Amino acid sequence: MCGIVGYVGPKQAQGVVIEGLRRLEYRGYDSAGVALVHDGAIASDKKAGKLANLDKAIADAPLPESTTGIGHTRWATHGAPNDRNAHPHLGQQGRVALVHNGIIENFAALRSELEAAGHDLLSETDTEVAAHLLESALSGGANLTEAMQAVCRRLEGAFTLVAVDGQDPDRVVAARRNSPLVVGLGEGENFLASDVAAFIEHTRDALELGQDQVVTITRDDVEVTDFDGAPAEAKAFHVDWDLSAAEKDGYDWFMRKEIHEQPRAVADSLLGRRNEEGFLQLDEMRLSDQDLREIDKIILIACGTAFYSGLVAKYAIEHWTRIPCEVELAHEFRYRDPILTRDTLVVAISQSGETADTLMAIRHARQQRSKVLAICNTNGSTIPRESDAVIYTHAGPEIGVASTKGFLTQIVACYLLGLYLAQVRGTKFGDEIASIMAQLDRMPKLVQKVLDGADQVHELARELSDATSVLFLGRHVGYPIALEGALKLKELAYIHAEGFAAGELKHGPIALVEEGMPVICIVPPRGRDMLHGKMISGIQEVRARGARTIVLAEEGDDEVTPYADVLVRLPQVPTLLQPMLSVVPLQLFACELATSKGHDVDQPRNLAKSVTVE
Ligand code: F6R
Repeated sequence: MCGIVGYVGPKQAQGVVIEGLRRLEYRGYDSAGVALVHDGAIASDKKAGKLANLDKAIADAPLPESTTGIGHTRWATHGAPNDRNAHPHLGQQGRVALVHNGIIENFAALRSELEAAGHDLLSETDTEVAAHLLESALSGGANLTEAMQAVCRRLEGAFTLVAVDGQDPDRVVAARRNSPLVVGLGEGENFLASDVAAFIEHTRDALELGQDQVVTITRDDVEVTDFDGAPAEAKAFHVDWDLSAAEKDGYDWFMRKEIHEQPRAVADSLLGRRNEEGFLQLDEMRLSDQDLREIDKIILIACGTAFYSGLVAKYAIEHWTRIPCEVELAHEFRYRDPILTRDTLVVAISQSGETADTLMAIRHARQQRSKVLAICNTNGSTIPRESDAVIYTHAGPEIGVASTKGFLTQIVACYLLGLYLAQVRGTKFGDEIASIMAQLDRMPKLVQKVLDGADQVHELARELSDATSVLFLGRHVGYPIALEGALKLKELAYIHAEGFAAGELKHGPIALVEEGMPVICIVPPRGRDMLHGKMISGIQEVRARGARTIVLAEEGDDEVTPYADVLVRLPQVPTLLQPMLSVVPLQLFACELATSKGHDVDQPRNLAKSVTVE
């Protein structure tokens, strides 16, 4: 979702800001712009489309030199993605430039008020209203910081705002409510951004702004207040990954790089989780053993791919802990009046830690006094900060819009949670937990083995690039993987794709099957005899109706061979661990098929990496 950058320091701000925006491109956007402070005024340019369009516009009509500036990549909410609606937006006299991420919910009322006072608003955005209000406050004698505080007090909704004043050359001011904002602390220079990727090449020391805070940066100083102007504190942190982690390392797409990073991501997510006696320990588990023993229900909430990791986890957590476990889309959970008590554990799964739907859901759960635990990949993001406990996945930065290593490590973290609960509550013996952990320890090698077979999947993807519809079938933990495989194909290749529980097929969806339609079938390990046999019956049913079956089955499973037009082999693992292997060919498949269709895999159309609006 929108990327934001602000800079003040000795360097040319235009370069720093546009480079920062480039590093935030992965968040998804449809227009971009920049504003610089020069000679007592604002100079700005903005263009619909990718940053290349802005680069070209600036090359045709260069902006003046400046060491203070802001920039923005916009993911349209209010108003079409065109030049006019792109950010920055200026105040009535052009003295102030402002960029914004989020939605100002009371913008219609504010707009009417401004128009009645004679303001000309040039765009359809909610943002422009804030720019005009800010400039009006400056005209009333406030400085930019005071003006920002005053404006924020009037706004409702979710926003990160960053502004410059043409008459105040060394200051950039920002504010946040329900939307991310971090400060990069440099030597004689400071940065503002929606996430650290924007300034990681300049500094790894950062401040994470709290809720309802305003921050003012100059070259040598950073000052934080609340919306009333009272001093406030932001939390310092050090970014423990470097620039190379945010670059492609020779891969054509971040997504492909991230798929191949999964063995390391899984290994890192398992690292340091056992004490010297071999017992599980989860450092950020701030809930006491007593709290955990009292839990009588678990609700996993998430969106999209993270939701599917929750669906996988439900099977394992219930099996290991015998605690009833529900999984729900965060936006549905939030608005249906769920039954929550002090003994409900709500587990929010989010790679970014900023997904607004998930954030609103945990706020609701905490209001009802339920315990909230976050499973998150982004240190210092809002969801873990507002949770009672957190298990961080250690996947490293995920830049590709489609989540891959985020998903695998979410399953790892959920499994760690399940095993930890089983340890504390005594529903599994220590040696049983140790044996499952030993199986998990083998997963990085086995994921690598699946990756080593990528060529077969790539070839298949290229062969099927003209397919107009693809079905995915699975049972048990294979069912969420069918959903995830279909989601990946939809979002990257823009092909109609549906995931089904194989047993459900005969209740309706089988009517979709026609001659030559590719159907991807995930076959459970033979250890689950009944499931295995039933899955084979499902494959036979679609094959009898002309489907082209692409079957994912474990090595040595010869029973499936007669029913597979294409057979993709998976290493043998216990049922609950198979999703961590079976999803990998589906990720490779979607990535390659989208590539062969010429799509932008890292930034699929209409999508944003972190969805910070409800
Ligand atoms: C799909 C994808 C999305 C995210 C979803 C939740 O590939 O990436 O479906 O999984 O938007 O995002 P997080 O995990 O950041 O809360």
